[in-house]
Amino acid sequence: MESIPLGPGFAAELRAVSLNDIANDDAAYAAARAALEQHSVLVFRGQEVTNELQLAFSRRFGPPEVTKVGSIGTGTHFVTLTTIGPDGNVVPPDHRYALRNKANQLWHTDSSFKAVPALTSVLSARIIPARGGETEFVSTRLAFERLDPALQKKLEHSFAWHDYAHSRGQIAPGLASPEERAALPPQCWRMVWKNPVNGRGALYLASHAYAIEGMEPAAGKKLIDELMAAATAPGTSYVHAWKSGDVVMWDNRATMHRGRPWPAHEARLMVRTTISATAADGLETMRPPPRQAAE
Ligand SMILES: [Fe+2]
Repeated sequence: MESIPLGPGFAAELRAVSLNDIANDDAAYAAARAALEQHSVLVFRGQEVTNELQLAFSRRFGPPEVTKVGSIGTGTHFVTLTTIGPDGNVVPPDHRYALRNKANQLWHTDSSFKAVPALTSVLSARIIPARGGETEFVSTRLAFERLDPALQKKLEHSFAWHDYAHSRGQIAPGLASPEERAALPPQCWRMVWKNPVNGRGALYLASHAYAIEGMEPAAGKKLIDELMAAATAPGTSYVHAWKSGDVVMWDNRATMHRGRPWPAHEARLMVRTTISATAADGLETMRPPPRQAAE
């Protein structure tokens, strides 16, 4: 296995190893897992992906999420991100699918609004537009390390509230349906996720974050906005331009990402599998003390 650095201090392409190798070989998995802990974003090119292979590969890293209510793929282990409607045509810009793609264009980490957040997401390109539609990543680990030590210390002991309805509300009121709101109550997480393998902390933030526990709402929102801006400062991102056969995986504990726009009439279809974080990934360290959780 060979790893080629891609981004400013994070992200790497893995060569001479395939999804199939990692799905079936313990040594290949161990090497890929170590690369994920180190680089946070991994790119595989020229893969022949099926849903079955993507799931077998993803399962290596932990338990797969079951797709939530209101997404394409509900009840399965796959999320389909597309603007192709049931009739096979690209949907109009005000269609729910198109608005959801717009929501994915806000900086976020996947599943911070869920009762169990995600360790990693695996995304494969199935139909890609000729131009645009890139996925852009930043390292929230490097962002955390850029902050001054006093703020780092404060954030290590701070907790933020995450809500799916909050990020969707920035695109269109009511984009999160009543069923989604009922299934996805707000969650409270520590604002720094310390990687148990290398001990490095990362800002745990997303477009879903709306408040900081114990802070006045406007002040908490202002701090979240400032941290989001610092984490996504110009020159800090890796932009992945998709080619057919690409598979990209990222560490949701240490990155944020956003989709980039593409010409609205062009089709795009991506398939995501998402792996839940477990205690071994540092999940328990992210929970607020019981007193705060009970409030
Ligand atoms: Fe995402």
